[in-house]
Amino acid sequence: MPWMTRWPGGFPVFVERASGARFVDVDGHEYVDLCMGDTGAMAGHALPAVTAAVTERASRGITTMLPSEDAVWVSDELRRRFGLPKWQIAMTATDANRFVLRLARALTGRPKIAVIDWCYHGTVDETLVVRHSDGSTMHRPGAIGPSTDVAATTRVVPFNDLDALDQALAHGDVACLLMEPALTNIGIVLPEPGYLEAVREITRRHGVLWVVDETHTICAGPGGCTAAWSLDPDFFVIGKPIGGGVPVAVYGMTDRIAIEVEAMIGNHDVDVSGIGGTLTGNALALAAVRATLSTTLLDADFERMIDLASAWTDGVAIGYRSRGLEWHVQQLGARAEYWFCPPPRNGADAAAAADPALDAYMHLFALNRGVLLTPFHNMALMSPAHTRADVDRHTEVFEATLASLLD
Ligand SMILES: Cc1ncc(COP(=O)(O)O)c(C=O)c1O
Repeated sequence: MPWMTRWPGGFPVFVERASGARFVDVDGHEYVDLCMGDTGAMAGHALPAVTAAVTERASRGITTMLPSEDAVWVSDELRRRFGLPKWQIAMTATDANRFVLRLARALTGRPKIAVIDWCYHGTVDETLVVRHSDGSTMHRPGAIGPSTDVAATTRVVPFNDLDALDQALAHGDVACLLMEPALTNIGIVLPEPGYLEAVREITRRHGVLWVVDETHTICAGPGGCTAAWSLDPDFFVIGKPIGGGVPVAVYGMTDRIAIEVEAMIGNHDVDVSGIGGTLTGNALALAAVRATLSTTLLDADFERMIDLASAWTDGVAIGYRSRGLEWHVQQLGARAEYWFCPPPRNGADAAAAADPALDAYMHLFALNRGVLLTPFHNMALMSPAHTRADVDRHTEVFEATLASLLD
């Protein structure tokens, strides 16, 4: 995988074991993990409840292409957390997004999708795009083997730009807008006040379905930004952390959409390919989601995690401000990230300030002192297992990094 080559130092450390918020490499070095599998392990490594549930479920069979009873508990819990009434299972967030795009095109009869400039929604062909300065859609720089010209599939708009969104959707050919409620894949860029409410109004006015991908923004709270900010999407996607590390993702939809989807997939003229896969919704995955969501990422966990992320943010801000650097650090709930520029308004502003050499230096310096940051991000994610001592360790290391760079 290309990103495996981007770990600091030019090669990845090999992991012997991980538990809570720490891991040990094959040479016996212990690290504070601030990457947490880039959110896949946000609930903590080796959760006892997940280990027990997965072990128990494996002994009763993993995959049958039939539903298991855990699916009922899981869909009730997803409704309680995120508000949408009907749920489907996928294997990864990439998969969930692909299936939602397919459903959105089928439901609206429109060919294109819209995304936000510098978004990331997994390896979904239509979303691996950026916006050209003339407004047209281009492949992401360096994209490997694109299958088709993305200008034919995708309209791309800057974050926090309502006029651009209105214009892009006015063509009448867009089935859905797929977006994160705050950008988390080009640093963290928060929505401006009123932006998401206006996005909802504009999408509705143009008959465009609104898909909110909360695979990362679950960091805002137990119900993600959707619950925290009272959002009202048509589709909702989340992968990564919900299975405590076991590959599984889900997508939710409104009742109105679910009725149409059920009618469509219940029609025997519809091809059985295209949505889901053979191992999708297997009993192991559902047991893992149940064990994760019933025991962790709950209100009390988030209170602690968000406090720790605030302390991490303060430590970073004090460090760069005391040295007069024009950087910023942005927090979204349990996640925080620093970037080498003043707060950007959109993904293109953030991308312009990227500095891979400086990133590599910051990351390697931290790794050599027992702290793992998220690769190609300067991001820390707090899990319920992190402690104030872990945060203070990072603050010390960050200080020392700046001293080594500047003194
Ligand atoms: C917002 C968002 N959606 C989807 C994905 C894809 O997740 P996966 O690689 O698990 O399919 C990512 C991965 O980083 C993501 O950040």
